[in-house]
Amino acid sequence: MATAIAEGAKSISNVEVELDYHVDAEELGKFDAVLVGAPTYHHDMPMDTKKLFEEAAEKGINLKGKIAAAFGSYGWSGEAPKLVIEIMKNKFEMQVAEPPLLARDVPDQNMLSTCRNLGKRVAESLIHAA
Ligand SMILES: Cc1cc2nc3c(=O)[nH]c(=O)nc-3n(C[C@H](O)[C@H](O)[C@H](O)COP(=O)(O)O)c2cc1C
Repeated sequence: MATAIAEGAKSISNVEVELDYHVDAEELGKFDAVLVGAPTYHHDMPMDTKKLFEEAAEKGINLKGKIAAAFGSYGWSGEAPKLVIEIMKNKFEMQVAEPPLLARDVPDQNMLSTCRNLGKRVAESLIHAA
């Protein structure tokens, strides 16, 4: 899903895309848009994702107004991306593209195409805002 989103974003010229498995809280501030992949484990987001946002809050990283989105695969309940979005909106006042993208088990071609579209949409909005 992340790769497909990155592909979509890269299809827009003058947009730089960084696809990271892990980022430090301080690094979040350097991006114009932050799209977070979060699979659901035990009805929650992964511990690393939670820690990232907790650390960003503790360190006072300003993410206000940055474009954001969340996505992830899941097995049966899929809470993680919705929880990520709540934090992005309510804690960091990010400008969130909703709804989150959820793929049951493995994303099919349809979902991958939706992911590409999300990446493209976000990249286009950055270009228009520049
Ligand atoms: C220990 C464990 C707990 C899980 N808990 C949930 C859950 O609470 N809700 C859910 O929708 N899926 C749950 N899943 C399924 C995963 O979300 C699903 O397999 C997802 O595709 C994993 O993504 P990943 O391979 O990127 O980590 C769980 C899977 C495991 C192994």
